[in-house]
This record gives sequence, C-alpha cells and structure tokens, in this order.
Amino acid sequence: MEEKDFAAYLTATMTGSALTMLIGVGHRTGLFAAAARGPATSAGLADRAGLQERYVREWLGAMVTGRIFTFEGGEYTLPPEHAKFLLGETAANLMPSLLTLSAFTGILPDLERSFADGGGVPRSAYGPYLESLGAKTGDSWKHVYREHLVDGFFGAVPGLTDRLTVGARVLDLGCGTGNAIAVAARAFPASRFTGLDINANVVAQAEAATDGLPNVAFAVGDAAELVADPPYDVITAFDAVHDQDRPDVVLRRIRGALAPDGLFFMVDTNFSSHVENNIGNPLAALCYSISLMYCTTTSLAEGGAALGAMWGTEKALDMLADAGFRHVSVLDSPRPQNCIYACRP
Ligand SMILES: C[S@@+](CC[C@H](N)C(=O)[O-])C[C@H]1O[C@@H](n2cnc3c(N)ncnc32)[C@H](O)[C@@H]1O
Repeated sequence: MEEKDFAAYLTATMTGSALTMLIGVGHRTGLFAAAARGPATSAGLADRAGLQERYVREWLGAMVTGRIFTFEGGEYTLPPEHAKFLLGETAANLMPSLLTLSAFTGILPDLERSFADGGGVPRSAYGPYLESLGAKTGDSWKHVYREHLVDGFFGAVPGLTDRLTVGARVLDLGCGTGNAIAVAARAFPASRFTGLDINANVVAQAEAATDGLPNVAFAVGDAAELVADPPYDVITAFDAVHDQDRPDVVLRRIRGALAPDGLFFMVDTNFSSHVENNIGNPLAALCYSISLMYCTTTSLAEGGAALGAMWGTEKALDMLADAGFRHVSVLDSPRPQNCIYACRP
C-alpha cells in the first residue's frame, strides 16, 4: 500500500471504530428502532425516541456521512435494506457483534497490563453487559441456529439428521444460553439433549429458554471432567472448544464419552493456523482482534492454553487426532467464519 493510501486507510479505520461506538449508542437509546418507523427530521426522531434533539442531530450527522442513514429534503431515513442488519430477530442482524466490540473497551487497561506483566483478564471483568449478550455472541447465534441449525449445520453431515430423527443421546458441550438445544430439541423430539456449561448463570438462562421441553436437561460442570455412562451418540460443541482452558483434556474427554459409532460435531472458526494464509481474508483482522480481547486473555487469566479464536484448522486437526479421532472431515458451514468438524473415533 502506498504511503498516502495507508493514511487514508487508517482514517477509514478510525471512522469505522467511531461509528461502531455510535451504533451502540443508537441501539441503547432506541434511535434505530425509532428510525425504522420511517423518515423523520432530527426533531421528529428525537421526539419519537424521547431524546434531546441536539444530541440526536449530531448522531444523525455521523450516521448520514457514515452511510448508514440517507438524508433528503430535511429528513433522515434508515433504509430498510440497512435496518435488517441493525434490528430484528434474524441472523442478518449484526447488532450483537457490534455491541460486543464496544463492550471490550472497558477491559483494555487490564489487557495492556497483561501485555507487560503476563496473566490475563478474567471472564468476570467483562461484567454483566457481555453476559447479557449471551456469553460473548450468543445472541447472534440464536438466530443462526433458528435459521440454519437443522438444514445448514446438521444437514452438512450425511446421515446425522436421520440419526437424530430416529432418536439419539446428545450432549451439547459449552451450551451457553441453550440456543442450539432449544432448536434441536423441538426439531428432533425422539432425541434426548443434555446441555453442559461451566457458567451457572447461562445454564439458568438455558433452562428458562427451554422450559417445558420434555427431552432436554442441563448441568453445570467442567467439560475437562466430562464422563458419560452410557456414552453419548452425538456430542456437539458450537464455538466452545477454542475458548477452553484445557482444550486437549476436553477433546480427550469428549472422545471417551462417545459411543464407538458416535459423532463429535464441532463448529469452530474457519481460518488457518498460519497468519500468512489468513492475509486477504476479510474476516481475519476482526477475528484476531476479538481473539486477543477475549479468547486469548481470558484463557491466560486461568493459566489456560490460550488457543485463541484463530487456532486454525491445521492445529484443530492435530489436536483432534491426538485426542483419538481417526476420521475427521472439515465441512463448510452456513457462515463463512465457521467450519464444521465431523469427527469419528
Ligand atoms: C462462546 S460460548 C458458546 C455458547 C453456545 N455454544 C452458543 O453457541 O451460543 C462458549 C461457552 O463455553 C462455556 N465453557 C467454557 N469453558 C467451559 C468448560 N471447561 N466446561 C463447560 N463449559 C465451558 C462458556 O461458559 C460459554 O458458555
């Protein structure tokens, strides 16, 4: 990149960062929801949202010049084709991820201290805000599961939906707020689903979200101590292995808890373990950044392996082989940032 292009690139990066913060402000003050009701002047939008016009006008200035809103005839518009990425109960809504990024700003002083002194930032330091988003990005996953779990994810592995239809014993490891189980248990009533998570708060939310489903149970526990008798037919782990403090132990436990013809279905990030292979991947810089600000440092805080979100397929395949999985296929998932590992003993 030429010198002058690099300066422009950095300025655009700053703009993206500032807009990310103001998008969070717009979400929390209700401005996006108010704007989705149709075009308005700044006074009209302020009135609709019950806010101060002077603040709303400056915010709208950033939104218009940042190409999130349009402005014509004195009125500001949030186009519907933009609104679907900022609002609504669909997988297209990027707001949970945008809010997660803003939530990381609070831990930066602790992160910088860890660069110098070692150790890391404990999960508890991220506060209730991040947890209310569903332990990192659970909210965005909720819609992904509803729209893609059965056909897109499970459907990628030949024979899996048939097995779940007939009835299987399934464990969802690192189940978080139970979003995957809530969908799977309804889609496959003959199967029995158990969710396991180390965080009692998210398990309580999972129990509330699946209340009344007869084929669901949850347990609070550490995956590194997993034992199963009888073994499970299917163990799933959605975005839950790279964050483990002892991932090698967890993978061996999973292998030990599976029936001889069982399947370990792991969804994780879809990158290379080698930085040079990730250059040019439009999602890589964002994922390395999130990995540093959450996955790596929270693991180091516990003296963990700190695999990070960018551990990559090469490392994942080595670790799965070490854990005793002799047949592993890496499959495309409905999201480009994730892949599916279909692992058999
Ligand atoms: C990124 S979240 C994913 C949650 C869920 N699978 C989903 O897709 O929404 C990772 C989850 O793994 C859980 N977890 C981390 N270490 C664990 C361990 N050793 N045993 C059980 N759960 C663990 C965390 O509490 C968190 O809920």
